[in-house]
Amino acid sequence: MYNYVKMLVLFTILQISFVFNIKEVYSEEINLYGDAGQAYSVEAYLGHPHQKLKLLVDTGSTTLAIASYARENSNEYFHPDNSSSIYDSGKSVQAEYSQGMWSGRLVSDFIKFPSLKSTPEVRSDIALITQSHKFFMNGSGWQGLLGLAYLPVGAWGNGVVVESWLDSVDRTLHRPISFHLKLCGPISKTNTTHYGYFKMLDDHTPQVNSTKIFRTPILRKRWYEVGVLSISVMSTLSAANQTVVDTAKQPNMDMCLKLNAEKSIVDSGTTNIRLPDSLFRQVVDELKNIYRSSQVLILDEFWYQGEAACWPEPQVWTLPWLAIDLLSSDADNQYFRLEIPPQNYMRVVGVYNSSDKTGTVSEYCYKLGIEAGGSETVLGYTAMEGLQVIFNRSAGWIGWQTSDCGANARITGPYNTSYSFKTTCELLRPVSNVAISIRAAQWALCAISIIAAAVLIYLLAPCIKTFFVRRLPSSQQISLSQAALVEQESS
Ligand SMILES: *[C@@H]1O[C@H](CO)[C@@H](O)[C@H](O)[C@H]1NC(C)=O
Ligand SMILES: *[C@@H]1O[C@H](CO)[C@@H](O)[C@H](O)[C@H]1NC(C)=O
Ligand SMILES: *[C@@H]1O[C@H](CO)[C@@H](O)[C@H](O)[C@H]1NC(C)=O
Ligand SMILES: *[C@@H]1O[C@H](CO)[C@@H](O)[C@H](O)[C@H]1NC(C)=O
Ligand SMILES: *[C@@H]1O[C@H](CO)[C@@H](O)[C@H](O)[C@H]1NC(C)=O
Ligand SMILES: *[C@@H]1O[C@H](CO)[C@@H](O)[C@H](O)[C@H]1NC(C)=O
Ligand SMILES: *[C@@H]1O[C@H](CO)[C@@H](O)[C@H](O)[C@H]1NC(C)=O
Ligand SMILES: *[C@@H]1O[C@H](CO)[C@@H](O)[C@H](O)[C@H]1NC(C)=O
Repeated sequence: MYNYVKMLVLFTILQISFVFNIKEVYSEEINLYGDAGQAYSVEAYLGHPHQKLKLLVDTGSTTLAIASYARENSNEYFHPDNSSSIYDSGKSVQAEYSQGMWSGRLVSDFIKFPSLKSTPEVRSDIALITQSHKFFMNGSGWQGLLGLAYLPVGAWGNGVVVESWLDSVDRTLHRPISFHLKLCGPISKTNTTHYGYFKMLDDHTPQVNSTKIFRTPILRKRWYEVGVLSISVMSTLSAANQTVVDTAKQPNMDMCLKLNAEKSIVDSGTTNIRLPDSLFRQVVDELKNIYRSSQVLILDEFWYQGEAACWPEPQVWTLPWLAIDLLSSDADNQYFRLEIPPQNYMRVVGVYNSSDKTGTVSEYCYKLGIEAGGSETVLGYTAMEGLQVIFNRSAGWIGWQTSDCGANARITGPYNTSYSFKTTCELLRPVSNVAISIRAAQWALCAISIIAAAVLIYLLAPCIKTFFVRRLPSSQQISLSQAALVEQESS
């Protein structure tokens, strides 16, 4: 009976909200673009009348944060004075990263994404950035961040909670909305602009006719924290027919403890796959040794220091694939494997023409898409390109599917083991919960910690960590080394 009533209510809500034309028509339109080396951004209309801006699509943060002043290299920004619908709270908010920060004011205004036809224009909290340090990069093609994570990792202020855009959409539609990212990588061998699709999914619209979805549970609703069980190098037998012979290791306890020691997150705002230091060394040593047998020498700066290496023509990589094992939602002893081809992690970062005495020569520059991350694991967009990723926020899982664009990444499994990953890999270490009541407490706690910082900073370390030890802004990975790091071996 109760269920029946619930169904009726639901049906009514569905009918009401049909005004918003909920059914997503799967006629895809490219709506994400990014310059070489930068993350993907989407076009948004802010305020009334509409001001057109580009926002970086970021699953590694929560707040909608937008530049409202001219920066050194860009005079595109949101003009709050020109919007008739803006509401200014006058409260200050800020976000800090381990390097880089911004501060600004909490306002609210209408936002609409022209490419998301079925998603209504909503009034959303916005952090207007009035000051920043090492946050916007030189000539970045975007003017703000569209944070898509959960509230506990939002921007903060004294007694201020900044609601995310997604929560505003949920509230307006009266039901949970999920989203879908299909990142495709560079347009072509000679054009390094990368493209993709960002789509909202209604939890009540059954997903018909889709390829198999492999689900991994979101372990904690802060960042998109998942159980990464293993990362290893697969060996390729035949590059000619792309047959991968699976010699990658099974997940083992030592590795999964290291990978999840701090946290493992899925972050579209980060470029690389970031691994704990010792595992980074292990994986990269292996790749380097395999590559050593080929004709061209690549210097250690490329492998270990994130420097670019350039060649006069586009490269076809015969390096092995990477295997990333993720915990399955279906059973605690089950996992599946993302198989990432070398064209993902040997990232094209630029195509340049330079002229010298002999004429014009082209340069195709690459960077390694894997980096050392201290003690955390981040699956940046390098691990997402060539796949489709569904973020089911309410149900708490991330679904991975093969894709019809970009690199030929694959997913295999599920595989069973005889033990529980959650226990063996200590995936469910207690950290602060995210029930709504606790969120408020958390904000209060951090406000106190700022006042009494000198005394309490040590005691409240876990709370501080949530806000301060966050991923580096993506600008860290963007700077391109001009040094030519490739030496052609004389033959
Ligand atoms: C903002 O308003 C001023 C004056 O009305 C106008 O000159 C300017 O072009 C507007 N800027 C934007 C970005 O709309
Ligand atoms: C790359 O493709 C984009 C999108 O189609 C286009 O706007 C841009 O001009 C192209 N760049 C080059 C260097 O061809
Ligand atoms: C999210 O997960 C729930 C429960 O598994 C499911 O009912 C819903 O359809 C999912 N939403 C999407 C968009 O897949
Ligand atoms: C999915 O749709 C395509 C084209 O609409 C069709 O060719 C294919 O057979 C369908 N697949 C399934 C599993 O229904
Ligand atoms: C691919 O190459 C391997 C080794 O050369 C061979 O064993 C396998 O049969 C080939 N697969 C296909 C589909 O041709
Ligand atoms: C480089 O030069 C080639 C041929 O001269 C030209 O086709 C290409 O568009 C140039 N690329 C860039 C990025 O300027
Ligand atoms: C793996 O485990 C699941 C759940 O425990 C079970 O349903 C499935 O049959 C197992 N698969 C294999 C291949 O053993
Ligand atoms: C950014 O721009 C400033 C000033 O134009 C310049 O000094 C700096 O070298 C640039 N940084 C990068 C990484 O290009």
